[in-house]
Amino acid sequence: MGNISIRLYGDPVLRQTAQPVKKIDAKLRRLLKDMAASMYAAPGVGLAAPQVGVLQRAVVIDVGEGLLTLINPEITYSEGEEMGVEGCLSLPGLVGDVSRSTKVIVKALDAQGKEQEISGEGLLARALQHELDHLDGILFIDKAQNLRPSESDEDRG
Ligand code: NI
Repeated sequence: MGNISIRLYGDPVLRQTAQPVKKIDAKLRRLLKDMAASMYAAPGVGLAAPQVGVLQRAVVIDVGEGLLTLINPEITYSEGEEMGVEGCLSLPGLVGDVSRSTKVIVKALDAQGKEQEISGEGLLARALQHELDHLDGILFIDKAQNLRPSESDEDRG
């Protein structure tokens, strides 16, 4: 387990809109570090701050290509559409098919407050869209078809 626990479906915090981060300080960096630890421990490929009960626009993602820390992320470009299997750390044991953009570009600040641009395709594009949805209180089940039980721990965000 990580240092902070992941909120599960039914917790109202998951349905609230997160506020933009105003100050990137030691407290926020601590939160991001704890979020990453919880994501890796789960295991999962992404985690958004509302999933640990913090209504701030911050997410961590690692689809196996290294840790991404995104503060105040925004999708600036998207293209294509593809259906893929998705799960969520806040809804363990459940997966569904969700249509997402094939490619997205996301603009965000990093943990030092520096602007970064992430270009993602495939699983990374999917993880980015899934985590950004969390910041607006949107869960994958709102968009999924064919929801079904799953025993796999893979690719949850
Ligand atoms: Ni999720």
